[in-house]
Amino acid sequence: MVIKRVGIVGSGIMGSGVAEVAAASGHEVVLRSRTQASADATLVGLEKSLAKQVEKGKRSEAERDEILARVSTTTAVDDLADMDLVLESVVEDLAVKKHLFTELDRVCKDEAVLATNTSTLPVVELAMETGRPDRVCGIHFFNPAPVMSLVEVVRPVTASDETIATAVAFAEACGKDPVPVKDQAGFVVNALLFPYLNNAVRLLEQGVATKEGIDIAMKGGCGFPMGPFALLDLVGLDTSVAILDTLYAEYRDPNYAAVPLLRRMVAAETLGRKTGRGFYQYQK
Ligand code: 3HC
Repeated sequence: MVIKRVGIVGSGIMGSGVAEVAAASGHEVVLRSRTQASADATLVGLEKSLAKQVEKGKRSEAERDEILARVSTTTAVDDLADMDLVLESVVEDLAVKKHLFTELDRVCKDEAVLATNTSTLPVVELAMETGRPDRVCGIHFFNPAPVMSLVEVVRPVTASDETIATAVAFAEACGKDPVPVKDQAGFVVNALLFPYLNNAVRLLEQGVATKEGIDIAMKGGCGFPMGPFALLDLVGLDTSVAILDTLYAEYRDPNYAAVPLLRRMVAAETLGRKTGRGFYQYQK
């Protein structure tokens, strides 16, 4: 099936980034938020992002207008009934996602593919909430979605070849490089990335170097575009702890056990860029 209409559920960093990617590659996008205020905020964010691209000469004003015209917002899940693909990017909480998949299954047309942008949760459990487990898969974009080229296409044991082919074709139509992966916590990238991020916080706790020093070391020593603390702030510390908890529950590897400082920072609501403060301070 060729995907033309895409429903996005969730208007956080990932939902809005993926909405931009999908609309910019010619898809009609309906973005569902829980409140009109967050839907409006996402549209303002999209306008700003596109305005920057026009300023930099990467897009024309006409292109910007066409992209914006392809995006509409709603607070009603029922408005996703006609979508060919619905991709959810809501909070990394299995119970919340399961409930959403039950609703999506009720509302969406039979042939629609339902997908999750989860980083670590078992996609098969979401598939089994629906009457169409063969048409459920993971389509995992990376942050910031408009910039990062990778998409992990996650295959639960229940998915059909056609569903995976549809998801791969969608990622390619979005200009991304899809990599098929097994439905196993963390897939490829997060299974390798999070022990590194977690251990960076451990080194900070141990006083081996300052956070600035560790960031400089990993950029200069490994050629990474960002150091681990800047990256944790970008991903969000709450999301990072949720990812580590799921990885730990699946593998029982101590490298995945979130270090205390990370948990304390989440408790203190210093979540990274999204709250203006994490390991570093940001202007909101
Ligand atoms: N939206 C759209 N475009 C953005 C953007 C955003 N949020 N952030 C940066 N960009 C664009 C800029 O406009 C710029 O484009 P240009 O060069 O064509 O003008 C380009 O990206 C580079 O941006 P900057 O020059 O401002 O900044 P940097 O060179 O420092 O790049 C970065 C920023 C792309 C974020 C880079 O630092 C990077 O690649 N960091 C690593 C990010 C990463 O590892 N992400 C994966 C996180 S893990 C994950 O997502 C999994 C999840 O499950 C947790």
